[in-house]
Amino acid sequence: MSSFPVTRLRRLRRTSGIRNLVRETRLDLDDFVMPLFVGPEAFTNDDLPGLGRHSVESVVAEAEELTRLGVRAVILFGIPDEKDEEGSGAYDDDGVVQRTLRALDGGELVLLTDVCLCEYTSHGHCGVIRDGEVDNDETLELIARTAVSHVEAGADAVCPSDMMDGRVAAIREEVPDTPIIAYSAKYASAFYGPFREAAESAPAFGDRRGYQMDPANVREALRECDQDVAEGADVLMIKPALPYLDVIRAARERFDLPLAAYNVSGEYAMVKAAAAKGFLDERQAAVESLTAIKRAGADLVVSYWTKELASWL
Ligand code: PBG
Repeated sequence: MSSFPVTRLRRLRRTSGIRNLVRETRLDLDDFVMPLFVGPEAFTNDDLPGLGRHSVESVVAEAEELTRLGVRAVILFGIPDEKDEEGSGAYDDDGVVQRTLRALDGGELVLLTDVCLCEYTSHGHCGVIRDGEVDNDETLELIARTAVSHVEAGADAVCPSDMMDGRVAAIREEVPDTPIIAYSAKYASAFYGPFREAAESAPAFGDRRGYQMDPANVREALRECDQDVAEGADVLMIKPALPYLDVIRAARERFDLPLAAYNVSGEYAMVKAAAAKGFLDERQAAVESLTAIKRAGADLVVSYWTKELASWL
């Protein structure tokens, strides 16, 4: 290998034309998924535009606008009229996500759905509570029912985010032909704060550390991925993204399945808040963050910036 002065790495950085030629990672809207929240009433969120709320009526116009801007895919989250102990709004054939799927049917967007009970349970946990704990095996049936009702209403792919053991297998048994994008390594993270406010899904007692992963672990994330592959997942997801780039890289190196990363609400909110204070430039920080997530090894990225990204690219 030659060294300085024969080698001068700055030669390839001299003009934007040359930098473009040798760039290793590019952002392409085809790889991005926009989250959409649908509930009883629509409202905008001025501080965090990507975390506003749609109604089943208003989401149709939003989907058309996203399509016009070049966005290819959305992931739907529902906030029901009423919550109960068993999260029955999640698997109600007339539930908010099911009605949204029917309303968006025939459009061009790829429709993904988040499959979980936390937005639908009165206690805010991702499964049913028995003896003060989230009961894994009883929850599985409800998660599978939720996925089936989404598929029947027109979901193109389902994304279980509850972190129960065995959920991918439980869904796979019921829906042989639908892609499962599994939130395989979902950490018990502080970065979900703004989402929980938008989706009204903060746990009423305790926390999610009994089912979501410990932020300290990476080998365990690979075990989670292994399980999901064995159970029939089609895509593995790591969540959050920026504080877990090493996990994305480790999963990329171990598995040949497509890999997704979820650039979560707190990652988005941090940059928005810093930009509002004038500490940094939002667009540059967002593009740099999303590029880093792709560089780490993600094939597809769920991000609240997807809509804004469409106008930036
Ligand atoms: C549902 C779910 C959550 C997120 C996605 N799906 C919240 C949670 O687990 O508490 C968080 C997404 C975000 O913060 O953007 N279980």
